[in-house]
Amino acid sequence: MTDVFDSDFARNPWPTLERLRIEGGVHRVRTPDGPPAWLVTRYRDVRAGLLDERLSTRVRYAQGDDYRGFSVPPPLDAMLSAAPADHARLRGLVTSELSPRRLAEWTDRAPRLVDSLLHEDDSGETVDLVERLAVPLPAAVLGELLGLDDHTAERLRGWANSTLLPSAAPPRARDTLATMLAIIADATARAPRSDTALGRWVGAHRACGSPTGAELTGLLFYLLFVWYEVLADLIAGSVLTLLGSPGLRQTWYALGDKRSAVDELLRHLSPQVLAGPRFATTDLVIGDTTIAAGQTVLLCLASANHDPEIFPRPAVPDLARDRADQLALGYGMHACLGNALVHTLTAAALEHVLTRWPDAALAVDEREIAWRSGFRHRGPLTLPVRL
Ligand code: HEM
Repeated sequence: MTDVFDSDFARNPWPTLERLRIEGGVHRVRTPDGPPAWLVTRYRDVRAGLLDERLSTRVRYAQGDDYRGFSVPPPLDAMLSAAPADHARLRGLVTSELSPRRLAEWTDRAPRLVDSLLHEDDSGETVDLVERLAVPLPAAVLGELLGLDDHTAERLRGWANSTLLPSAAPPRARDTLATMLAIIADATARAPRSDTALGRWVGAHRACGSPTGAELTGLLFYLLFVWYEVLADLIAGSVLTLLGSPGLRQTWYALGDKRSAVDELLRHLSPQVLAGPRFATTDLVIGDTTIAAGQTVLLCLASANHDPEIFPRPAVPDLARDRADQLALGYGMHACLGNALVHTLTAAALEHVLTRWPDAALAVDEREIAWRSGFRHRGPLTLPVRL
C-alpha cells in the first residue's frame, strides 16, 4: 500500500500522478483519513469506471475497512446513494431547472453578477480575487438560480466566507453539519411560492410528496454546498492560469465561443481531483488488478485528464485544444448537472476581468500562491491581483 496523499501531493499532484500512471495505473493507496482504497489513474480505466454499473456510489455495497468517503448521515446523501430509479427521478428534477433553456438566461445574467462584484472603483487597486470574485460569485448565482430569499442567501454567503477564506476562524463551518442543515431548513421554510426552482420543488413536495422531505434536503445539500468549493476553485484557478500567461490571454481574446477554452481550463486544473467513491458490487478487474467485492475504488479525474496517451503535452494549457472529452465534470449516469452553468460562469468571470482590466497582473510571484487541500479538490487559496 502506498501513501500518496501527502503535502507534496496537495501542492503539486502531477509528478505523483504521472508516476502512478506509468507504474501500472491502479494502486492500493492509504487515504488521508487512514482507510485504504484503490486509486485508478489512467484515462481509459477512469472513463470505463465511470460507466461501469458494477461500481456503485451506494455505500451499502461497501464491505470491510476500505475508505467510505465523506460520511454524511441520511437524509443528506439522498442524491448519491439513491436507488437507480429514485436517482433518475431526482436527476430529472434538477435537469428540469438546469435545462439548457433555463441556463441560457445565464449568458446575460452572469456578466451582470460579475459586474456587481468587481467594478470601476477597483481599478488600480490590489484585490484578492478569491475573496472578491471566486467565493461570492457561486453564492450569488445559487441564490438567484434556486430562488433563495435574501435572508437565506445572506446565510449562504456567511457560510462560504467562514469556510473558504483563509481568514476563516476554526472550527470550520464545513464541519458543522448543523449550520448547513439550518440553512437548508431556512431555505425550504422561506421558499417563495413564486416562479423559482426552490418554490417549485417545495410545492411539488407538498402537493404530491415527490421529492420527499428527505430528498429535498439531500438535493439542496448537494446544490448549495457540495459543488460550491470546486466552482470557486475553478474560477480562481482559471483567472490565475490566464493572468500568468500573456500567450493564453491573447488566445482567449481571439476565441469567439469560449466553451472549449473552459473545457481546457477544466482539464488542466481538474479542480475535483477524484470522483465520489465507488464500491465494487462484485469481484472485477481494472487493468491488471483484481478488485474484490465491497472494496472502494477512487477514480482519479485529475490524473485521467493529464494522461499523455489521450492529451498530448498534458501539462501545457492550450485553449485551442478543443477536447470536450475531458473528465473534470465526471461522465455517465452521475455526470455533472451543473455543466452548462459552470462553463457560462467561468467564461463570464474571465471575460470581465480580462476585458475590463487588460493589464491586470498578479501582485505576487505565482509560486507564492498557496493552494487549498489536494485530496478531493484543489484551487488557489488567495489570488492577489493588481487591477
Ligand atoms: C467547477 C465546478 C464543478 C465541478 C468540477 C463539478 C464536478 C462534478 C463531478 C466530477 C460530478 C460527478 C461525481 C461522480 O461521478 O462521482 C458532478 C456531479 C454533480 N454536479 Fe457538478 N461540478 C461542478 C459544479 C456544479 C454546479 C454549479 C452544480 C449545480 C448547481 C453541480 C451539480 C451537480 C450534481 C447535482 C451532480 C450529481 C449528479 C448525480 O449524482 O447524478 N455541479 N459534478
